[in-house]
Amino acid sequence: MSPDCPTTGLRLRSANMNVSRTLTAAALGLIAFGAYSQTAAPQAASAAATVQNSMAQRMQACVMCHGKEGRATNAGYFPRIAGKPQGYLFNQLKNFREGRRRNQAMNHLMQHMSDDYLQDIAKYFAELNLPYPAVQAHGLTAQQVQLAEQLVFKGAPERNVPACVSCHGSSMAGRQPAMPGLLTLPADYLIGQLGAWRTGSRKAIAPDCMAEVAKRLTPEEVGAVSRWLSAQTLPTDTKPQAGSGEPLPIRCGSGE
Ligand code: HEC
Ligand code: HEC
Repeated sequence: MSPDCPTTGLRLRSANMNVSRTLTAAALGLIAFGAYSQTAAPQAASAAATVQNSMAQRMQACVMCHGKEGRATNAGYFPRIAGKPQGYLFNQLKNFREGRRRNQAMNHLMQHMSDDYLQDIAKYFAELNLPYPAVQAHGLTAQQVQLAEQLVFKGAPERNVPACVSCHGSSMAGRQPAMPGLLTLPADYLIGQLGAWRTGSRKAIAPDCMAEVAKRLTPEEVGAVSRWLSAQTLPTDTKPQAGSGEPLPIRCGSGE
């Protein structure tokens, strides 16, 4: 795969369409089964334990695509969801339900879910504390590494691109309440998301600061920064950083 190919994510997605359909059907079955067994359960002996167990059971549906316990690795296309801030996950589940993000499987899965249930799902995955995949070779040239690190830590002030760390947290592990960590996500997924913002097929709650950032990047920068981010790792106990209350360099409607 060439780093200059920002459409790779999209191409992969359509190639996986049939697998995706089968998995979505299976996933819907599991979620429905889980919801039924929870309602049908006799007055629970230990309410908390039951909720936790049944949530883990119902979320088996997600594991089929998002990896064991939602900790997909940096290979392939599926994004890790474990350990991301609850506010971020909730926003995304709603974005799929309401069409601000487009993916057939995710749009279909979320269509009948209530806000309360989406909050439960977001909380469940946000609280998981699981190992991140190991460092990978990124295959970038020294110049591309420099370009990526410049964007992540310093941005490109002459083009109004703020440093990625100024919003995503100083160690890029995310920031409460709604800023996701980016390290160890698959490069194809990252390229796909930045491309989707550039073409308007992914939107966040307005004002959509990430759309502004993505539109100011060149295709070369998108390739380099995505592959660099994907190849890093984090210690297992890393949590998204606490929100500082300080204003962000661009206003973000999804929660500062
Ligand atoms: C058939 C495969 C499939 C299944 C099953 C599935 N997902 Fe996804 N999910 C995806 C794909 C593919 C994406 C990325 C879509 C895109 O390109 O925007 C995604 C994206 C997401 C995101 C956004 C992640 C981010 O970092 O922005 C969340 C959250 C999510 N899924 C949660 C879930 C949950 C919860 C379940 C189970 C109820 C689930 N998914 C089941 C395929 C799946
Ligand atoms: C002004 C703040 C801000 C800056 C600067 C910023 N981001 Fe973001 N980014 C966000 C917000 C907010 C979201 C979540 C949007 C949503 O809710 O969908 C996000 C989400 C993302 C996502 C999607 C992650 C996922 O799991 O789907 C990617 C990829 C991303 N940013 C890349 C970058 C890169 C690369 C840079 C630096 C060049 C950067 N961002 C700089 C605010 C920012």
